[in-house]
Amino acid sequence: MTPFHYQDGELHAEQVPLARIAKAVGTPVYVYSAGALVGAYRRFAAALAAAGVEATICYALKANSNQAVIATFAAEGAGADVVSEGELRRALAAGVPAQKIVFAGVGKTPEEMAFALETGIHQFNVESLPELEALSAVAQRLGLVAPVALRINPDVDAKTHEKISTGKAENKFGINYDQAPAVAARCRELPGVKLVGLAVHIGSQLTDLAPYRAAFERLAALYRALAAEGHPLERLDMGGGLGIAYRDEQPPPVEAYARVVAEATRGLGARIICEPGRHLVGNAGLLLTRAVYVKRGSSRAFVIVDGAMNDLIRPTLYEAWHDIVPVAAPAGDAPVERYDIVGPICESGDFFAKQRPLPPLAAGDLIALCSAGAYGSVMASTYNTRPLVPEVLVKDRDFFVIRPRQEYATLIALDRLPPWLAEEEQVSPKRAAGGG
Ligand code: LLP
Repeated sequence: MTPFHYQDGELHAEQVPLARIAKAVGTPVYVYSAGALVGAYRRFAAALAAAGVEATICYALKANSNQAVIATFAAEGAGADVVSEGELRRALAAGVPAQKIVFAGVGKTPEEMAFALETGIHQFNVESLPELEALSAVAQRLGLVAPVALRINPDVDAKTHEKISTGKAENKFGINYDQAPAVAARCRELPGVKLVGLAVHIGSQLTDLAPYRAAFERLAALYRALAAEGHPLERLDMGGGLGIAYRDEQPPPVEAYARVVAEATRGLGARIICEPGRHLVGNAGLLLTRAVYVKRGSSRAFVIVDGAMNDLIRPTLYEAWHDIVPVAAPAGDAPVERYDIVGPICESGDFFAKQRPLPPLAAGDLIALCSAGAYGSVMASTYNTRPLVPEVLVKDRDFFVIRPRQEYATLIALDRLPPWLAEEEQVSPKRAAGGG
């Protein structure tokens, strides 16, 4: 289904006009479609099943960790891929069973390990020998044994943006392929860990299956070799990374991806884990923002909107393209103008698009930044003391605010004054009143 479409001249999310959400909640606001979330999950699960892959889908929370989103997937049977104690707590709060949670990430602290061990999670994806030793020590102290998958760096080029490419030897991620047998051997000596599998994740927004094929084949070969050495392997975690269409990319259909997983893992007898993030949420969300001013400079026209780089950082951080569409359907014969769509923050990097061809825009117009369901609100900050923007989930004709707009008072009250300044503050009202 297409969750966002024009109906009666207005852009809708499912059956709800976006203008109605803007009126009720204000802008900027993230809007997600429940139908699109569920649809993407079911298609992913069905593709794996059709390819004969027995898999647990551990949704990568980092893409969008609103509890309503996590709970939507949990209700479909999803597990979770988490990379911090905070994400682990969120997954649990949203109802994901601990036994379906995988803890990834290069820098887990002993405190985070202890919390995850006591929770009884499914698996730790371990990325280095020092991390393995630390995990064993923490587990031993607690009288527990940590189920471990070694994350392997297969030295494969994912051919994606350099900031989201993770599978080359020069990246910080994973255990070098050649060092893996030695680290696996160390698992036998360490009393607090049990080696149960291998994991890989070569990058995000992959639009080509060839790097996957190469990485999965290397992983499967290593799995066979380690199993032959007597390691009790039973799981393979294939990571995430399947791309979506932001513009004119043609990411492989999920069915083709599932066949690559199936072919690479055939005959291993391993239980498969997949960690999709963006693929499940990216195109299920948009950022709704309003034009505040249209400013015509000598060489360019700028549309200054109320959203900014702190709300959606992808354009400036990754040169990412997000489609931009007006909420009021343009007339069929509307002329095309080129605009820079920019936010109000005092940095030239605060832009959403440059020289973008669009129908004529005016102050007050609502516009939507598409494909913003993944790595949008989760990467937001309060730079310039701009409160975190709200999130809304639409289902059929209803919508619900799944995170209210942060209030100025809440945001500002996070700071504490040290005593020497707090005392000053106490006297200041008197001063203001002309006393003391
Ligand atoms: N598993 C691991 C170990 C990961 O590091 C990631 C993403 C995923 C799964 C999920 O990947 P996905 O299916 O979403 O591609 N902020 C960037 C993307 C960073 C991805 C980091 N790791 C962006 O906005 O493009």
